[in-house]
Amino acid sequence: MNSRCVETTPFAGQKPGTSGLRKKVSVFKQPNYVENFVQSIFNALEGYGGQTLVVGGDGRYFNREVIQIILKMAAANGFGRVLVGQGGILSTPAASCVIRKHKAFGGIVLSASHNPGGPSEDFGLKYNITNGGPAPEKVTEAIFAHTQKISEYRIVDAADIDLERVHATRLGDMAVEVIDPIADYAALMQELFDFDAIRGLLASGSFSLCFDAMHAVTGPYARKILEDMLGAAGGSVIHGEPLEDFGGGHPDPNLVHAHELVERIGKPDGPLFGAASDGDGDRNMIMGRGRFVTPSDSLAIIAANATAAPGYAGGLSGIARSMPTSLAADRVADALNIPCFETPTGWKFFGNLLDAEMATVCGEESFGTGSNHVREKDGLWAVLMWLNILAAKKMTVDEIVRGHWQTYGRNYYSRHDYEGVDSAAAEGLMDHLRALTGTLEGKSLGGYTVAFADDFAYTDPVDGSVSTKQGVRIGFSDGSRIVFRLSGTGTEGATLRLYVERYEPDPARHDLETQEALADLIAIAGDTAEIRARTGRDAPTVIT
Ligand code: G1P
Ligand code: ZN
Repeated sequence: MNSRCVETTPFAGQKPGTSGLRKKVSVFKQPNYVENFVQSIFNALEGYGGQTLVVGGDGRYFNREVIQIILKMAAANGFGRVLVGQGGILSTPAASCVIRKHKAFGGIVLSASHNPGGPSEDFGLKYNITNGGPAPEKVTEAIFAHTQKISEYRIVDAADIDLERVHATRLGDMAVEVIDPIADYAALMQELFDFDAIRGLLASGSFSLCFDAMHAVTGPYARKILEDMLGAAGGSVIHGEPLEDFGGGHPDPNLVHAHELVERIGKPDGPLFGAASDGDGDRNMIMGRGRFVTPSDSLAIIAANATAAPGYAGGLSGIARSMPTSLAADRVADALNIPCFETPTGWKFFGNLLDAEMATVCGEESFGTGSNHVREKDGLWAVLMWLNILAAKKMTVDEIVRGHWQTYGRNYYSRHDYEGVDSAAAEGLMDHLRALTGTLEGKSLGGYTVAFADDFAYTDPVDGSVSTKQGVRIGFSDGSRIVFRLSGTGTEGATLRLYVERYEPDPARHDLETQEALADLIAIAGDTAEIRARTGRDAPTVIT
């Protein structure tokens, strides 16, 4: 088989963000764009000759074409074997599971997560390392450096591989195995959770659930695990057919985009438990009748109750949360007498803590929860954990949440996103805040006393690597907090994220409407950052 070197020149801006390289499809479709980035990944790695690479994606538009390119380039670059999901499909957590289980050198996951898909929408490509997790910054920086100096890539001339059926074949010297994308993942879930107890709950007649797969990758996984293996009623999984454009929807599991689920659960005879997952299956939203569980609360509640699941019966070694995630998890860690780590935004920062067994569960406010079972956040895992907890406690979602607040207090929490802001204006706003941080401590803002203000920097306790400029935090003496940062996953302009939280220990005050409970702090944040003057926006585009 003929392996060729093709001359190429660098593209500007092939810089991996919070979660890999994300761009419009039209950008990825430029001749050599994919090839340059894939070759730059390989150029940044060492020692993969003869090793295994895992490849799969969320099934969005352009997924199959890119997989064929990766397979031919992996063969030309000397990989020994590629495991690729049937149909080119692997959810992000399943890819992580397969990398770990089959001791692969790494994996390439094709996804732009919760961003819309289709010819005029987004595509993404990211590299995961041997532990199954997203490449850490030192790897993504090396990849970026290679993209800036690349002069050629290697590819074999060969016919496309048939991705539609499970089989083994060869591409030159490299073995290609088209694998069942669900089997390994489902087996892992069965090890972690009490499937008998969940089956009993689902069979009880008084319980019902609705899982919204949002026409994204989790549909087949949810049908197999929830309906076939656990016996949920047929039709419990809605929007279960993965579509290249997610049915024109925005596959982001929140109250706005998972509106059909929200409507169903709002009906008097609606399901008792509801959940949704995103484009690539790593995010989750949890609901019960009359109760939306914030992701930050979900992390805290999972941490407090994880021992209900057999895989966690021995207890947790620690909890980790991203910096903007609420402090609810910290209260659970205190009670359990285990550490709670505060990391920068992005799952890659949890990898070292999980590998070193310093943390067992981790989560982000952005609808991400997971554990040491893989090295990605995992939407269905969170759903199964909740079902396991519900089965063990024999309580409703609302009772569990309220009980948790009674014990630990409530952290009112909200995120306000200002999307598509002019990039220079957004950078200017952050510079303004950074300049302020040194001057705020001890001052009063709108009646709240500033306890600390800083630009968050993180020193990884395992490898000592330092990440700076991870967001501006302003903490107040009553435990309230406002945080500002710019998104690292957007593909157009800048997105300013404002995170607001207030701690309320008094159960008599646990029933306020969230935006009302946070109104003072939201106003303080707007004034301090000069949001209106600097961005021209009167209101956020999305509130979660
Ligand atoms: C967003 C979320 C972050 C998450 C990432 C990937 O990143 O805020 O928590 O890890 O998507 O799903 P951001 O756009 O804020 O950089
Ligand atoms: Zn995702």
